Amino acid sequence: MSKETLMWKKLNNPTESHSSIIEAARLLSHQKVVAFPTETVYGLGADATDESAVQHIFEAKGRPSDNPLIVHVANEDQVKELVSEIPPVAKKLMDEFWPGALTLVLKSNGVAASNVTAGLSTIGIRMPDHPLALALLRATGKPLAAPSANRSGKPSPTTAQHVYQDLNGRIAGILDGGPTGVGLESTVLDCTTEIPVILRPGGITKEDLEEILPQVMVDPALADEQHQPKSPGMKYTHYAPEAPLWLIDGEDEFFQRQLNHLIEDGKRVGVIASDQLAEKLDYEFLIRCGSRNHLSQVAERLYGALREYKKADIDVILCESFPETGVGAAIMNRLNKAAVKKIQTY
Ligand code: TXA
Ligand code: MG
Repeated sequence: MSKETLMWKKLNNPTESHSSIIEAARLLSHQKVVAFPTETVYGLGADATDESAVQHIFEAKGRPSDNPLIVHVANEDQVKELVSEIPPVAKKLMDEFWPGALTLVLKSNGVAASNVTAGLSTIGIRMPDHPLALALLRATGKPLAAPSANRSGKPSPTTAQHVYQDLNGRIAGILDGGPTGVGLESTVLDCTTEIPVILRPGGITKEDLEEILPQVMVDPALADEQHQPKSPGMKYTHYAPEAPLWLIDGEDEFFQRQLNHLIEDGKRVGVIASDQLAEKLDYEFLIRCGSRNHLSQVAERLYGALREYKKADIDVILCESFPETGVGAAIMNRLNKAAVKKIQTY
């Protein structure tokens, strides 16, 4: 438990990092858990067919046992080994979006350890689009169960340092592949129903899916907090920064007024804002998360920004709202869950 976690640093490509990957794969074959980069966020991997190994993931993260894990694969043959069938729609999506930020929920055949699926009859599977993740999967030869490599409830890690802050001493090692590209987790799509249903918006957008599929639905629970979500993980507190986050929905002038009120009240306020809002505010404690016209930048930087502000320095974090188009749907899903308070102009 308290043993220092190994950090394999500066792994820029699988050839240079060959020996680190072999070592990580060896640890995984001994029921250890190892964090690795994917294109979305860092994952915390264990052999998905070994119940004891998977149990270590839940312990390291402090994750509730009724929340199933995503299984990562290196090829389609590994999918066939885990599911009872691959419906044509799933095959089409794999061909189009894998490797990539799309998790497909399919009918499990029970080969994965039972704690991976948290007792459900379905299993979430994806092929990550990252050379180190794929090299590790090939080296182990096993499907790897891997949730995001954060302590449960915290923002997902987009750098190896984030993983280290959360899990040092609790896991065997971390493969450091630098910052992740997408910055938010994969889209979780239920393919066991006639019309596929988005259970969690993510890196592959609804608009992307609509180019391939005649129809896509969105789990009603995503829009309405009264609904019971179909994806067990969506009901838990998530992505929470150390200080309370207030989400502001309105014009830039409205944001400025909220900020002024808090400062007048003697509050120490940290701001997370787009470049456009940042220019107008001219405020010291501000983290820019990119252009509001390029939401992929905001996605990439959001979790890093949420982790930046420490409780000791800041009483409240004010963050602006973003349009819910494209990856904006995933950004706003995460911000709504992270926020303790929402303030709207109307
Ligand atoms: O991008 C990602 O998806 C990252 C990287 C590491 O691949 N992984 C990730 O895993 O975000 P995690 O465990 O933090 O989130 C998995 C989500 C949870 O909301 C869980 O409830 C849902 O996927 N999920 C997994 N299996 C499911 C299933 N069979 N049915 C419905 N939801 C499922
Ligand atoms: Mg997670």
